[in-house]
Amino acid sequence: MNSKIKQILLKKNKSKIVSLTAYSKSVAKILDKYCDIVLVGDSMANVLYGQKNTHKISLENIIQHSVSVKIGIKKSLLVVDMPRGTYSDPKKALKNARTIMKKTRCDAIKIESNKNNFKVIELLVKNKIPVMGHIGYTPQFKNKFKLEGQTKKEINKLLEEAKFIERAGAFSIVLECLTAHAAKLVTKKLNIPTIGIGSSSYCDGQILVTDDMLGLSGFYPKFVKKYTNLNRIIEKAAKKYTREVKLTKFPTKKYFLNG
Ligand code: KIV
Repeated sequence: MNSKIKQILLKKNKSKIVSLTAYSKSVAKILDKYCDIVLVGDSMANVLYGQKNTHKISLENIIQHSVSVKIGIKKSLLVVDMPRGTYSDPKKALKNARTIMKKTRCDAIKIESNKNNFKVIELLVKNKIPVMGHIGYTPQFKNKFKLEGQTKKEINKLLEEAKFIERAGAFSIVLECLTAHAAKLVTKKLNIPTIGIGSSSYCDGQILVTDDMLGLSGFYPKFVKKYTNLNRIIEKAAKKYTREVKLTKFPTKKYFLNG
C-alpha cells in the first residue's frame, strides 16, 4: 500500500485529516505544506470555468489541471476526481482511472458513489488503484442541493452506502452536506476515515474548495468559512495598477529593462 495512504489511515481517531482542492501548480505548492490530501476536484467546473454544475468537466480537463498540480506537490496525497460519465461501468472506469493515474502520477482517484457503482470501486481496488468514495450531496448525480441524513431512513441509507464503499475497498470517503448526527454515526461505524464538507466536526477530516475559503469564488454557503477575502485584495491591486498606468506612474524607470 502507498505509504501516504497508510499515513492517512493511521490518522483515524488520532488526528484530523486536512484537505483542500487545487487546480494549478502555484496553489498546490502552497497547500502541500499544510494539507494531508490535495484534491483536484471537478468543482473546477464552477470555480474556474464558470459553469453552473460539474457535468461538463472532461477527462482531458481533469488530467491537464492534475498534471499542473502534481508539479507543486511534494508530500501530500494527491487525489483526482473522476469526471461524470467516465466511470459509468466497471470496464470503462478501469480504463479511464488507469489513464488518470498514468498521465497525472496521482496517488488515488475519487468517485462519487451511488448505489450502483460499488462494483466500480471493487474492480479499481483489485487493480491496485486506490479509491476515495464520496456520498451525501454528490453534484454529479444530484441536481438540487439538499442536506442529507435528516430522517432515520436517510441515515440508514447513508450508513449502508458507506459500509458498501468500505467493503469494496475504498481507503476513505467524503461526506458532503450530511447532518451532524449522520456524519457522526457514519464516522463511528466505519474503519476508514471520513472527510467532511458541510458535515460538522464529527468527521475524521475536513475538506473545502480552496477558492471558496479564500473568498475568491463568490460561492459562500453556510458551511464555508472565508479565511481571507482575495476578491477584495485582487480588486484593490487591479484598481491601483489601472490608476498608475493611466497616470504614467507605472512603469517607472526602475522597471525599464534597459536601465
Ligand atoms: O469537486 C470537489 O471539489 C469535491 C469536493 C467538494 C469534495 O468533490
